[in-house]
Order: sequence, then C-alpha cells, then structure tokens
Amino acid sequence: MPSSSQVSVLFVCLGNICRSPSAHGVFGAQVQRAGLSDKIHIDSAGTGSWHIGNPPDPRTLAAAARRGYDLSSLRARRVERQDFDKFDYIIAMDRQNLADLQRLQPPHFTGHLGLLLDLDASSEVAEVPDPYHLDEQEFEHVLDLVEAASAGLLEHIRTHHL
Ligand code: 4NP
Repeated sequence: MPSSSQVSVLFVCLGNICRSPSAHGVFGAQVQRAGLSDKIHIDSAGTGSWHIGNPPDPRTLAAAARRGYDLSSLRARRVERQDFDKFDYIIAMDRQNLADLQRLQPPHFTGHLGLLLDLDASSEVAEVPDPYHLDEQEFEHVLDLVEAASAGLLEHIRTHHL
C-alpha cells in the first residue's frame, strides 16, 4: 500500500459522470460523518474519455441532491496507469470496468482492485448497472446500491487500516 497514514480510494466507471461520481459523493459523505475525512482520500475516474472535464450527468446530480449529496464540484477524468501508484483501493462498478482496469494494472500494484458490490455481502447483484441510457429510476437504483456498498467499504477500511 502506498501510504500507511492515509488510505486512498478511487471509484471507477465508464464515463465518470454517473456511477463513480455517485460513489465518490456518497462514500465521501459517509467518511465525513464518521469523522475520517483526514484519513481517507477519495477520487473517481472513468475508463472512457468522452466526458473529460464535465460535471456529473444532470440526472446523477438531481438524484444525489434529492438524498442530500452535492456532486456539483466533481469533474470527469480518465483513469491512468499512475493511479495504481496513488491509490490503495481501486473500485470498479461493473465487470467491464474491472477488466479494463486489470489490463492497465502494473505488476507491482499491491493494493485492492475489485468490484464495489463485492464489498456488500448482502448485495444480490454483482454490478452497478450503467444508467446512462436508462430512466430516472435507474439513477435511484445506482444510489441504493452505492449507499449500501459504501458502508461496507468504510467498515472494511476501519477494520483493516484505521
Ligand atoms: P457512467 O455512465 O459510466 O456511470 O458514468 C456512463 C456515462 C456515459 C457513457 C456511458 C456510461 N457514455 O457512453 O457516454
């Protein structure tokens, strides 16, 4: 792991405008509520480059705001090989994101690369579905999945690192 005093977490999806910014904001709020903001560094990125520099999708912003999360300051960026030197946890939203990250992963990476929903033992699904071409309801579903799994991730980090 790159750092012992601080744990760093990178959430990754395809566009970095729907699922990973949702995870970024939700996990950030949980970390803040737990008083651990100075111990856990959080970021998000996408495997695709279409939306670099853009804020989250308006439907993502609206769904998050309805639950009290402000994602408006986030901007999309593309994941890069150097992220494997900077982050202890690289968390993919679906299996395609994971496969793309595994291809990028340098051999010396000793952190955790895995699926978000593997951190939620009660989850009945393995992937956070891509909501981009779907309706508003799917954006709520993303938040439901992300809220549950983020709590699992925080518990995991507290147990293993803090
Ligand atoms: P995300 O959703 O991966 O959750 O950010 C998507 C956003 C945009 C596109 C695909 C997925 N796109 O094809 O532009």
